[in-house]
Amino acid sequence: MKATKMSLSSGIIERFREFLPSSKAVVSLGEGNTPLVFSPKLSAIVGRGCEVFIKNEGINPTGSFKDRGMTVAISRAIDNGAHALICASTGNTSASAAAYAARAGIPCAVVLPAGKIATGKLVQAMAHGAKIVPIEGNFDAALRIVQELSEDRKLVVVNSINPDRIAGQKTAAFEIVEDFGDAPDFHLLPVGNAGNITAYWAGYREFHSLGKSTKLPAMIGFQAAGAAPIFHNRVVDNPETIASAIRIGNPASWKHARAALEESKGAINVVTDEEILKAQSWLAQMEGIFVEPASAASIAGLFKCCPSEVGAKSLVEIPDGSRVVCTVTGHGLKDPDSILHSMDNVESVPAEIDKVRRAIGF
Ligand code: F0G
Repeated sequence: MKATKMSLSSGIIERFREFLPSSKAVVSLGEGNTPLVFSPKLSAIVGRGCEVFIKNEGINPTGSFKDRGMTVAISRAIDNGAHALICASTGNTSASAAAYAARAGIPCAVVLPAGKIATGKLVQAMAHGAKIVPIEGNFDAALRIVQELSEDRKLVVVNSINPDRIAGQKTAAFEIVEDFGDAPDFHLLPVGNAGNITAYWAGYREFHSLGKSTKLPAMIGFQAAGAAPIFHNRVVDNPETIASAIRIGNPASWKHARAALEESKGAINVVTDEEILKAQSWLAQMEGIFVEPASAASIAGLFKCCPSEVGAKSLVEIPDGSRVVCTVTGHGLKDPDSILHSMDNVESVPAEIDKVRRAIGF
């Protein structure tokens, strides 16, 4: 592989250039090429010879899948002579935009629902020097304002309503097809603003039409029960969930997500906050993969697809021997609050070997 001056490890633009909108500038932090990890325990839970893999997007440079879209959107914005960037965010988009804007040397403003952003994500946007504007309103209001502000064309919007973001994010599907040599049978993922499910479906379809895969997966999306507009088929005015990344009541890519679900013969469903938190600790403790709550929606969703009671109807029929991929979208360190609470029960002991041995307890 040819090493460039920009980076020794190439990002998604260099790897998939022929499938992406063209750009001379390459603003990259070496995103993509994330692990597709076989999960023996999830495979055993699904059973019947099925194999479950986890596409761990928390391993991207800013800790979420947003980096795939951001490298394309910001490279193209630089090509087009943009002077400043703007986005609305539940946290990860702003962290990613701030980092890539810093790399490109261009100012970036992020409009966020006040008091609703996970600590780690806010810290990232601050660290990278973005202009942070908290609003007294939710993500849907923030996105509306950002869209209006961008009409004077001084500000380039880097939310997933920018098609360059979707183009970049579809590379995750490309990687999966390249890793397996084919598409999986099922792809499970969390759904918020619905850009990612749109992007994966576009990626799978593109590689299928080029003959790189023999089949297309059923796309199975999961929304948080208190923020499930697509599932209920109506706007949710006051979305609520512990999974703050997907606390969205009026997703921008709603229609595209519907198309992906219908064309792929997939399904959309909901998981409760309790199911999300349970799946988050299960994944951390059973497979060593620590993800933020929104990301655990895909794992909670998989559990919902495998009812333990005999005769219970499954959400989705997964045939014997299926290959299933669950995308986990963001790193657990971004949103430590739900786990930090359990530190309250951890007491210190004197610095004496016997006391420490007793405290260990095994
Ligand atoms: N998982 C995480 C960790 C996210 O940050 C998001 C979206 C999603 C899932 C849902 O993806 O919106 O494409 O359906 N976060 C956006 C943000 C909204 O502003 O960071 P989606």
